[in-house]
Amino acid sequence: MKFYLGTNWKMHKTVAEALAYTEGLAHYAKDYPQFQFFIIPSYTALWQVRQKVDALGAPIWVGAQNTHWEDQGAFTGEISPVQLKEIGLDLVEIGHSERRQYYNETDFTVNLKTLAALKHGFKALVCVGENMDEKEHGASKSKIATQVQIALNGVKAEDLPRVMIAYEPVWAIGEKGIPAEAPYVFEIHESIRKTLCELYGEQGREVPIFFGGSVNLQNCQSYCGHPDVNGLFIGRTAWQPDSFHQVMDLVTDAWKNK
Ligand code: PGA
Repeated sequence: MKFYLGTNWKMHKTVAEALAYTEGLAHYAKDYPQFQFFIIPSYTALWQVRQKVDALGAPIWVGAQNTHWEDQGAFTGEISPVQLKEIGLDLVEIGHSERRQYYNETDFTVNLKTLAALKHGFKALVCVGENMDEKEHGASKSKIATQVQIALNGVKAEDLPRVMIAYEPVWAIGEKGIPAEAPYVFEIHESIRKTLCELYGEQGREVPIFFGGSVNLQNCQSYCGHPDVNGLFIGRTAWQPDSFHQVMDLVTDAWKNK
């Protein structure tokens, strides 16, 4: 399995900025065949970023930050998986903590969206993570196991190869986030793996699990080398191609030394 390096841009970048970024990243990405890259722009930039990635032949998957679960309907302001499919995207991110926190995303809508994304041929990147209260009350693993179990309810084993999980502790994300210690991250990833194997047997070992939340140049190496950390899902530190490039080098070195 390649190691994954991806970034969700959240509500950042105009189309012009998105295209400039894509060119910058494409320039670096070709020198790092050991990584599977993915970028998740805002809806407004998706079409053109997709065209740009294809024109450059860049080894970068392109994804959307969200999807509705219905193919169409009276859902003002929403975007359907059919509409996303027309753009030719590789993946859909589902259940980011900001969506859960600010837009009433629940485990059950995450499940509907996961099923819809898979039905339409996308890879589904399902985000899970506990908040600080849950962590402090020793409930992280049970919370995350529940999130994974509900998200994947009804997902058939044949579709599992298109499922990816991102573990992003809510308390670690964003400017006010506290970076997580690597041993804690490893423990949670092991417990996510256990849940996946309970649900799908040995096939659960093949689902890539990414870590995200204040991944930066100082700590990115510390999360590498554990068999259940299969990628890094990065916000701010990957929003400039140059600092993303530094992450590529640091992670490459970290793997060499394992
Ligand atoms: P951050 O964002 O790296 O800026 O903390 C991570 C995320 O929300 O995916």
